[in-house]
Amino acid sequence: MERFIYLDHAATTYVLPEVVEAMLPYYREHWGNPSSVYALGREARRGLDDARDTVAEVLGCRANEIVFTGGGTESDNLAISGVALRLASRGKHLVTTKIEHHAVLHTFEWLERHQGFAVTYLDVDEYGRVDPATVAAALRPDTTLVSVMLANNEIGTIQPVAEIARLCRDRGVLVHTDAVQAAGALDLDVGRLGVDLLSMSGHKFYGPKGVGALYVRRGTPITPLLHGGGQERGLRSGTENVAGIVGFARALRLAYEALDTRVAHARRLRDRLVHGILGSIDRARLTGHPTERLPNNASFVFEGADGESILLNLDQHGICASSGSACTSGSLEVSHVLRALRLPNTLAAGSLRLTTGICNTDEDVDTVLELLPGIVKRVRELQPAVAG
Ligand SMILES: Cc1ncc(COP(=O)(O)O)c(C=O)c1O
Repeated sequence: MERFIYLDHAATTYVLPEVVEAMLPYYREHWGNPSSVYALGREARRGLDDARDTVAEVLGCRANEIVFTGGGTESDNLAISGVALRLASRGKHLVTTKIEHHAVLHTFEWLERHQGFAVTYLDVDEYGRVDPATVAAALRPDTTLVSVMLANNEIGTIQPVAEIARLCRDRGVLVHTDAVQAAGALDLDVGRLGVDLLSMSGHKFYGPKGVGALYVRRGTPITPLLHGGGQERGLRSGTENVAGIVGFARALRLAYEALDTRVAHARRLRDRLVHGILGSIDRARLTGHPTERLPNNASFVFEGADGESILLNLDQHGICASSGSACTSGSLEVSHVLRALRLPNTLAAGSLRLTTGICNTDEDVDTVLELLPGIVKRVRELQPAVAG
């Protein structure tokens, strides 16, 4: 296989061999329908039940508060639309932030456009943090739900979710958090977080793609979006992706068993990237919060450069990274996250996100630190100045 340096763990991760091993029996032997009463079905049901117990243990909740879904996007949709629609007769005002993932933002936009809801999109500070006071100020008598992500996928900023959840609880408002990026890096104990709903996705922590979970606190009013056979306590109909769910749970368990070592490894390499890049490239700035950020996230803007060109140059050296800005046919497209940070265009145009993971080595970091200054210099020279 071609050698590449993968520094895009926020986009997705590979599936750990132990996770694949745990999944295989559910394709080969225990492939029954978990709703069937005979032994083959019961074996599949056992796999599903064990997986649910495992996830509940990591989150510190009851097994029947976990709903398995088809990924992070579905979990976000179910949490937000499910609660908003169920509580529509109580109130039609919702609160979220400007820097949520599109799985959250587009769900709110749909509720606004097609279901007559009013949504407040909160501003963030220059580091991408939401001030709990702005959440408090946005609440109205008809607010039913607040959704604030635990950590941002582009800039890694961690939100004060526990504090937000506390103030919402005092006002009788439900709280959802998108923990898709936080899972495998931060504490997910729902008691400590105080949230009512929490979304996760398997492929962000070395599990399979297309499988997710939603924590729904007992008693939370929520209506299903998928109707059918009544699986997942009626909240998500459809025959369960048993092997995927088993893989999801195994990956989550492994992530939390090895949390300290994984976080320390990701952070050490991340810190080397941050210090090395800021020390060797002029007019470079770290985006996101300096300390309250995911341990594996190194995100930057380089003034006068174009993020997409940087990516293409890195790709020529087999380095996989990501950017929140693209400069296509002279027009600049900057992600909604970078826009919310209110960076001047000359800076926002040149964004780069490097996210470390368990497969990365010091040599990977050395290679990036060796190549990136030259790449940024070349891109700046070739790039017509981006308008401010
Ligand atoms: C914060 C966040 N929320 C939701 C999602 C969507 O997850 P999925 O791709 O599993 O549907 C992602 C994926 O990148 C994400 O980063």
